[in-house]
Amino acid sequence: MTGVLTATFKLLATTLVLLNGLSIVTNVHAFKSYQSLGGLDPRQVERIVPTLDARVPPRPPGPPRFTGTKLVDDCEHPWRPLRNGDIRGPCPGLNTLASHGYLPRDGVATPSQIIEAVQEGYNMNNQIATVTTFIAHLMDGNVVTDLLSIGEKTRRTGPDPPSPAIVGGISNHGTFEGDASMTRGDAFFGDNHSFNQTLFDQLVDFSNRFGGGFYNLTVAGELRHQRIQQSIATNPTFSLVGLRHITAFGETTFPVNLFTDGRQASNPTTRGQLTLSAARSFFKDMRFPTGFFRAAVPSGNEGIEVVFAAHPIEPGRNHGVNNYVVDTSLGSLSDPCGFYTGFVNTTIKGLYPNPTGVLRRNLNINLQFLYDALSPPDCPQVFPYGRN
Ligand code: HEM
Repeated sequence: MTGVLTATFKLLATTLVLLNGLSIVTNVHAFKSYQSLGGLDPRQVERIVPTLDARVPPRPPGPPRFTGTKLVDDCEHPWRPLRNGDIRGPCPGLNTLASHGYLPRDGVATPSQIIEAVQEGYNMNNQIATVTTFIAHLMDGNVVTDLLSIGEKTRRTGPDPPSPAIVGGISNHGTFEGDASMTRGDAFFGDNHSFNQTLFDQLVDFSNRFGGGFYNLTVAGELRHQRIQQSIATNPTFSLVGLRHITAFGETTFPVNLFTDGRQASNPTTRGQLTLSAARSFFKDMRFPTGFFRAAVPSGNEGIEVVFAAHPIEPGRNHGVNNYVVDTSLGSLSDPCGFYTGFVNTTIKGLYPNPTGVLRRNLNINLQFLYDALSPPDCPQVFPYGRN
């Protein structure tokens, strides 16, 4: 009897080992070249990395030579509707660039392509473009293949959609993507990346009440506060720590500085005043307004201090609905060094606790690019994986 039990147990154990191995193999086969390796089981990483086409990450592009305004809705970059499988996500800026072909239309790009596209299409300044891109790439991209996806698939190609938690690119919640977005819902409520008409209606309402029918920095300050208060009141998992404290305020300035037509800048009454039809075009249709000219000078988050000053709120998170507790452990808008150190030593190290080989090499190269671009004042560089 004991012999039979032992044999059965051995058979069961062998089957489990085989099944486990099979699931790793299956995951290897299903693995996309732009999928993040962050947070994966070390055994999976070990199996997947050799199947990838590894690249040495190239040095990011510098500023372009011509930095004035120009027509960017041009005949070389026609808007096209989505094809099956094209990826779009929570960023209206990148979605629009992909739909006009400044980025690959499928929504998968290298960090260098993203930096070049935001500079060319919007005149985003080189420092913000580089910092933003490498923060996103380190958290949501594949650092071995040097590819990043700009979101989640907006159209399914088959009956068996991939898990958003795995291939979400910049839609991955709790990385770059966060709560209290202006036109996207919180992940807690199920969809953190699609355009949300109800939230856009609120943006329109605030623009009418506080901006005389335009979106501007005053509207941004009020809307930012409103969205934070809504999340505090309804989302038990609401988080506004570290990076999200910075991006939540920064993103509200991009429509003012980068979605307004560059020709408006020369007129003090129209400068920084985004029309609601232009806002709808970017946020909803992922399309430049007809004949759009990019910003007049390289621009980024100018005015962020105005938005923050309207309703200064410390970084923190909800511990249950309506229970917001301040948490400065991962830095904030007013503590860039705390942000940098926490981002590298806690966030990235948490995603990649013990990388080896080409993964470790490429993480170190990308972390160096981030530090060079961020150059946080009086802030020593940290090396969680030693030096290459
Ligand atoms: C440089 C590379 C960029 C990356 C990696 C990036 C990434 C992202 C991500 C992950 C989000 C979602 C954050 C959230 O949860 O709200 C976001 C939001 C946003 N991005 Fe970008 N972005 C980039 C460039 C741009 C540019 C060039 C613009 C404008 C021209 C832009 C405009 C916006 C706006 C307005 C939002 C807020 C959307 C909302 O709150 O509904 N971004 N971006």
